Amino acid sequence: MYLFVNFLCSLALLRSAFAATADQWRGRSIYQIITDRYALPAGADLTACDPGQQTFCGGTWNTIKDNLDYIQNAGFTAIWISPVSQNYEGPRTPYGDAYHGYWIADATKLNDRFGTASDLKALSDEVHRRGMYLMVDVVVNNVMALSTTPDLSTFMFKDQSQYHPYCPIQWGNTTSEQNCWLGDTNVTLPDVNTQDPTVVSAYNSWISTLVSTFNIDGLRIDGVHVNTNFWPTFCAAAGVFCIGEVFDGDPSQAAEYQGPQALDSILNYPMYNALVDAFSIPGPQNMSALTDMISQLKKEFKDPGLLGNFLEDQDVPRWANISVDPQSLWNAMIFNFMSDGIPIVYYGQEQGMHGNSDPWNREPLWPSGYANTTTYELIQKLNQLRNFLVNGTSNWLTSSIDVLTESKEGIAFMKGDVITILTNIGSPPQNVSIAVYTPFESSLSTVDILTCKQYAVGSNGTVEVEYSKGGVPVILIPNTALFGSGICGQSAEVEAPNTAQGAVVSAAFGELRRPSSTVSALVVAVMMSVCGGFLSIAF
Ligand SMILES: *[C@@H]1O[C@H](CO)[C@@H](O)[C@H](O)[C@H]1NC(C)=O
Ligand SMILES: *[C@@H]1O[C@H](CO)[C@@H](O)[C@H](O)[C@H]1NC(C)=O
Ligand SMILES: *[C@@H]1O[C@H](CO)[C@@H](O)[C@H](O)[C@H]1NC(C)=O
Ligand SMILES: *[C@@H]1O[C@H](CO)[C@@H](O)[C@H](O)[C@H]1NC(C)=O
Ligand SMILES: *[C@@H]1O[C@H](CO)[C@@H](O)[C@H](O)[C@H]1NC(C)=O
Ligand SMILES: *[C@@H]1O[C@H](CO)[C@@H](O)[C@H](O)[C@H]1NC(C)=O
Ligand SMILES: *[C@@H]1O[C@H](CO)[C@@H](O)[C@H](O)[C@H]1NC(C)=O
Ligand SMILES: *[C@@H]1O[C@H](CO)[C@@H](O)[C@H](O)[C@H]1NC(C)=O
Repeated sequence: MYLFVNFLCSLALLRSAFAATADQWRGRSIYQIITDRYALPAGADLTACDPGQQTFCGGTWNTIKDNLDYIQNAGFTAIWISPVSQNYEGPRTPYGDAYHGYWIADATKLNDRFGTASDLKALSDEVHRRGMYLMVDVVVNNVMALSTTPDLSTFMFKDQSQYHPYCPIQWGNTTSEQNCWLGDTNVTLPDVNTQDPTVVSAYNSWISTLVSTFNIDGLRIDGVHVNTNFWPTFCAAAGVFCIGEVFDGDPSQAAEYQGPQALDSILNYPMYNALVDAFSIPGPQNMSALTDMISQLKKEFKDPGLLGNFLEDQDVPRWANISVDPQSLWNAMIFNFMSDGIPIVYYGQEQGMHGNSDPWNREPLWPSGYANTTTYELIQKLNQLRNFLVNGTSNWLTSSIDVLTESKEGIAFMKGDVITILTNIGSPPQNVSIAVYTPFESSLSTVDILTCKQYAVGSNGTVEVEYSKGGVPVILIPNTALFGSGICGQSAEVEAPNTAQGAVVSAAFGELRRPSSTVSALVVAVMMSVCGGFLSIAF
């Protein structure tokens, strides 16, 4: 036992010496930041930022670095920041200024609006000091210009042959999506010719240098609808996890971008659409859309556990703009944390921001006062639970979700030993209930981690949730599986094993549905604390 523990501890240390892989990202949760909008320097005017003006509000890499407590206290284990490359600088465009960072001029230079190279390095160092990962947004597909015949001298690629000739994109036509230009004729987004070998090699050496210079752990890639065979060498050159933006709700189309022929992962737009259909109020409140999407994702994607789950980003309306009931948000958000995939929360969602799409969904965060809202506290609980399940159990992260029950009003699903029961009825109480047939033994004690209320499993393994107080979400876990989590009165530290605890452990074996997985979960929980500094304890 002792040798086994040591081996795993040193493995964990070894891994941390390398840039982060897809598997290391699988257990993370990400807070997405628009660099310009997250925080201001001390003393700045807190009232001056109007998203409708589409101009710079003053956030920088330094102000992110100085305000990481808010993100870490919410339990996030990674941040995703706006593109760091130099942007268009010039007269205001019909769509304002390049405050969002996506209007790339020369990718090889840094955006001095956001700080210096040493500021970015300091942010990266501070993120790592806190045990978190840094994900940087990159734009490869295009640069930005004001005409269809731009002066190329300010760009990274200066030769006409390194761009596709101008044509507006026809969506649905793959060749057109890959080779034509995003944007319109006011702000053109000249399409870089990613089939050109000089472009491929320059991009690969650029990304390799960027990642190693700033110790970046992962890339979020904007608009990945280029020739897919560009991506494997690009991401290999980066040497880190790559998650791409495929703005497509069709799972079979979107799935072509995940796998060894393309990228590690993509943002989960198909599931985003299904969550809107299932939970938003008003809306179709179509739970079948959700269960249907769960099975489609399992069928179409090589690895649904790596998909980036979100309810908001810089391109779609805030959830609260399309759904006014807070329970709809909380139920949908819990799906993203408790199902397969990497949860991503877009800054400001925790503060109830409710702007429409671009530019209204890029509000400054500071007027919120970074308050501990109900949603912020829910996210803390979800991250605490998920972080525990990731490291404290052996099977949660790698098992895939199974739907146990679906009805018009709700869904119950299971991942590892956790059962999540969600409803779309919203806040007003209703005389409905959801009966869930679980694989648990009758009379097993489970706890709802959101309320710390006990639920005993009924005869024949059934659990029933009723909504006489409104449509609240429920996350049930066998009490014994929370051992060592610090959740709902459980101790956060696993004490040195002694006979009393041994008795608790063996009692757990008798009650749980899958004794073998429970055994390994408990062993892992003990092991983690050993790695954390109890090495003198002999087993
Ligand atoms: C260009 O911008 C102007 C002013 O905002 C707008 O009226 C016009 O529709 C835009 N043109 C295109 C092609 O989108
Ligand atoms: C698809 O787009 C390409 C590139 O613009 C174009 O040459 C081709 O004609 C389009 N195909 C169809 C069916 O429209
Ligand atoms: C609900 O979603 C299912 C699955 O996507 C779909 O077949 C059905 O037509 C939808 N129902 C409504 C009322 O939109
Ligand atoms: C949606 O966003 C628009 C623009 O930001 C705003 O005028 C409207 O009030 C918002 N709706 C809700 C329900 O918040
Ligand atoms: C939120 O709660 C934390 C922990 O209790 C506290 O340190 C912080 O000051 C609170 N934030 C605000 C804005 O009240
Ligand atoms: C899990 O443990 C590893 C190694 O100690 C640590 O780096 C990581 O932050 C932990 N992950 C989570 C989600 O807590
Ligand atoms: C709830 O529904 C059940 C079954 O339809 C019915 O027997 C009961 O009276 C209802 N309760 C209330 C408070 O409406
Ligand atoms: C237990 O529940 C399952 C699923 O609902 C059902 O198929 C089975 O008949 C039940 N068994 C008993 C003994 O009630």
